[in-house]
Amino acid sequence: MLNALNEQINEELNSMYIYMAMAADLDEMGFGGMAHWMRKQAQEEQVHAFKFQGYVKDRQGRVVFKAIPEPQTTWESPLEIFKAALAHEEYITGTIHKLVKLARELDDIATEVFLNYFVTEQVEEEDSAHEVVDALEKVGDSVGPLYQIDSWLRKRD
Ligand SMILES: [Fe+2]
Ligand SMILES: [Fe+2]
Repeated sequence: MLNALNEQINEELNSMYIYMAMAADLDEMGFGGMAHWMRKQAQEEQVHAFKFQGYVKDRQGRVVFKAIPEPQTTWESPLEIFKAALAHEEYITGTIHKLVKLARELDDIATEVFLNYFVTEQVEEEDSAHEVVDALEKVGDSVGPLYQIDSWLRKRD
C-alpha cells in the first residue's frame, strides 16, 4: 500500500508539472486569465502531493520521490489544453480508484478513509475542467468570447 501511495505522490507532482507547462503555453498564447487558472490548478496538485506525503509519514512509511517525466510544452489552442487537462484528471481519477480498491483488498480501513477525500476531490476536478471545455467548445475561434472566458478564469482564487 505504501508503495502505491508513493507512486501517487509522483502522479500528483507530474500533474502539477503538466499544468505548469499548460499555464506557460496559455501565457504564450496571450491568455493570462486561463494561465492563472491553470497555475492555481498546479498549486492544488502540489497540495495533493503534500497530503499523500503527510499520510505516508503518519503511517511510518518512507517517502520516495521518483523522476517526473518531461511534460508536453505546446498545444494547438486553449481548447486542446483544457481537453488534455480533463483527460488527465480522468486518468488521475482512475489511479485514485485503484488505490481505493487496493486498500479494500488489504483491509486497510484507515487508508480507504484517507482516500475518500480524493474520490470526492476528483469529481470536482473533472467537473471544473468540463465546465471550461464546454465553454471553449461553444465559442470556437471567436476572439471576443475567448477573452470573456479569459477574464472569467482570471477570477479563480
Ligand atoms: Fe490531484
Ligand atoms: Fe487534479
